[in-house]
Amino acid sequence: MKFFIDTANLKEIEEGAKMGILDGCTTNPSLMAKEGIKGESNIKDHYKSICELVDGSVSAEVFSTSFDGIVSEGEELANIHSNIVVKVPMIEEGIKAIAHFTKNNIKTNCTLVFSATQALLAAKAGATYISPFIGRLDDISTDGLQLLDDIVTIFSNYGFESEVLGASVRHPMHLMECAQMGVDVVTCPFSVYKSLFKHPLTDIGLAKFLKDAEKMQG
Ligand code: E4P
Repeated sequence: MKFFIDTANLKEIEEGAKMGILDGCTTNPSLMAKEGIKGESNIKDHYKSICELVDGSVSAEVFSTSFDGIVSEGEELANIHSNIVVKVPMIEEGIKAIAHFTKNNIKTNCTLVFSATQALLAAKAGATYISPFIGRLDDISTDGLQLLDDIVTIFSNYGFESEVLGASVRHPMHLMECAQMGVDVVTCPFSVYKSLFKHPLTDIGLAKFLKDAEKMQG
């Protein structure tokens, strides 16, 4: 199971990478804007910095919604660094562009997936990663984890090569359920990874061991 970090914050990415648990990073225009990144050359530099910190896929999202626009933007993004994966929205022009990128050996992440049939279309086009947003479905009283489970079943029925990337993962139980159903990748905010470390019995146990270790040192 791959762990991607869902942020454009360089400090968080650096800290996550140092933990030795990261396999990649996902960004989106909202996450980039949150870091105050503006203008073409700053955007490119920022993606380059992320790629230098993370040894794995780094999803960079296109702004265009037409086939030609997505293709030219995606090609520019892919040229920034070999780790870049072009993130393309789940729209008709996006699927056409994903099929084009697949033919040209450019890796893609199909984003904003909210149904199993959308995931099927992205798999048919050969997307490298397919990102169902489970938290955003939960937000509208729809079972996001059930959608992921359906997609995992459909993909294994037919042996699709696309990796299922659980996105909009909001808490440790989301992540645990993804692991149980065999989701290939999750992308989570740094706070979710930090919370995985926590257990009160670990803290209590460590405090006791340290106290007893003091006694041993005389
Ligand atoms: C995925 O690639 C998206 O960047 C992200 O997971 C969306 O999460 P959110 O719904 O918490 O914004």
